[in-house]
Amino acid sequence: MPNERLITLTPLPQHVEQRPGELILRSPVGVAADSGAAKAADLLRVELGRATGLRFESADEAAAQLILRTEAGDGEHYRLEIEAQRAVISAPQAGLIHGVCTLRQLLPAANWRSAPLPGMTWSAPACVIEDRPRFGWRGCMLDVTRHFAAKQTILRFIDLLAMHHMNRLHLHLSDDQGWRVEIKAYPRLTEIASHRPHTGLGFATSPNDPNDGTPHGGYYTQDDLREIVAYAAARGIMVIPEIDLPGHSRALTAAYPEFGCFPDKTIEVGTYFGISSDLVNPLPHTIAALETILEELLAIFPAPWIHLGGDEAPLDPWRNSPAIRAHMASLGVENAEAMRTWFTAHFAEFLAAHGRRLIGWDEIIHYGGLAPDSAIMSWRGEKGGMKAAAAGHDVVMAPVFPTYFDYAQSDSADEPLAIGQSITLEDVYAYEPSARWNDKSTFDKVLGVQCQLWREVILDDAHLEYMAFPRLCALAEVAWSEQRSDFDAFRARLAHHLERLDHYGVNYRPLEGPHPWQKGGTGRKAYQMRFNIKEALAWLDNWAESGEPPAEHRSE
Ligand code: ACM
Repeated sequence: MPNERLITLTPLPQHVEQRPGELILRSPVGVAADSGAAKAADLLRVELGRATGLRFESADEAAAQLILRTEAGDGEHYRLEIEAQRAVISAPQAGLIHGVCTLRQLLPAANWRSAPLPGMTWSAPACVIEDRPRFGWRGCMLDVTRHFAAKQTILRFIDLLAMHHMNRLHLHLSDDQGWRVEIKAYPRLTEIASHRPHTGLGFATSPNDPNDGTPHGGYYTQDDLREIVAYAAARGIMVIPEIDLPGHSRALTAAYPEFGCFPDKTIEVGTYFGISSDLVNPLPHTIAALETILEELLAIFPAPWIHLGGDEAPLDPWRNSPAIRAHMASLGVENAEAMRTWFTAHFAEFLAAHGRRLIGWDEIIHYGGLAPDSAIMSWRGEKGGMKAAAAGHDVVMAPVFPTYFDYAQSDSADEPLAIGQSITLEDVYAYEPSARWNDKSTFDKVLGVQCQLWREVILDDAHLEYMAFPRLCALAEVAWSEQRSDFDAFRARLAHHLERLDHYGVNYRPLEGPHPWQKGGTGRKAYQMRFNIKEALAWLDNWAESGEPPAEHRSE
């Protein structure tokens, strides 16, 4: 009989061989780790110590039950060998954490609790596992602007990403509806731009739509973000910050109207959604301010990647502002499109001078101005990604279908509020990033894949977990595993894997459909269908040929 825990590993490992017998951890558990493995060993001691109540002590290899050995080189691959007497994880430094993750999946799922259950035996089946990721970028984007996520929510989310061998957390920190990062040089960003008086109900696109009448907001101090970065790094996860420019800047320009296109215009932090015309201007005083903001951001986030957004920016405000027109003339820049090229080029150079790389949504490939090492996140389907790859840029695949997890998980009206109908677990699992890639010779520019949790209509933490899980388990397997199974086999494995989420207390959507308390009902979370995914794909595909959003999809 194959051991259940071995055959329910999620995402599926490259190679698994079951051996006879099992390892039973007994207090005190000796842990041997070389200096390169010290951090992974610390994490194992802290997390397993809390969940199991076992005592973990340093030991030499001869006496140890758990051995972590650092191999030379890079990469996230690992080898885990479990025998009756001991478990050995051998990996380059970045791979050790994945060996620890798999070891945890082989122990009783209760090791994802925060305190020990009585009467547990902490056993793991004897085996040899050789494993490596398919893609180096296995990401998740959290929109913390439209609805704020408390710091603890992000830390918890990091635990769940780590459970699935995910390694990138992209934080969408600024948008029309809120600015979420403390910037010491610009205090009004937190005083004014970090909150709004109310939020339009559903996917409201006008100030005249009904709203909830409740203030909403929040921000992270720089120390909060440093804590998040360090917590994620300890779990093998890089945090990539996004400041969305030049569009989606209503909150920024509400706080500092002089950075907007019409300084006399009264701008308020967004209370409804859609594509706004509140862009930052590209004038020298604004460019200098954005550099100051980015310098503070770079001091918080050590990631080589800085995401500068670039999506959904109608350029009419740049065309219509006399000051911007005069500035373009003084630079010899012909039109607003060329000014966008200048804008991207400027910040690509700025980031390069600080040793970082620019990444942005796929509109930016349309305008150009990228540095050779800039990268594209392809969201309007594959076209932007293919164009960028052909031009030699790295690409992260984040297409609306099937990586936008703000779409409902089924067509049933029982689903809670979602942006549209629907992206199922099966859709996510079936996603093959290369399938629609025309020139396969450029597919090696694809760094990986990422799911998106846009939060216009994801209202609270429970709702967030419901939309994320279990689709994130499927995305993780797409991103990690070269050994993907068919959907039915995945679904059967997932039924067991979900026990791990149960112990952690995740509000996932059961495979059979929502629990009664997860349904949308008729209140604030009542299901509404704003977008049908198939219709959305048709207009996104059209739009992907150009930069500016179609007029009918702008909110004001
Ligand atoms: C996006 O969905 N506007 C990147």
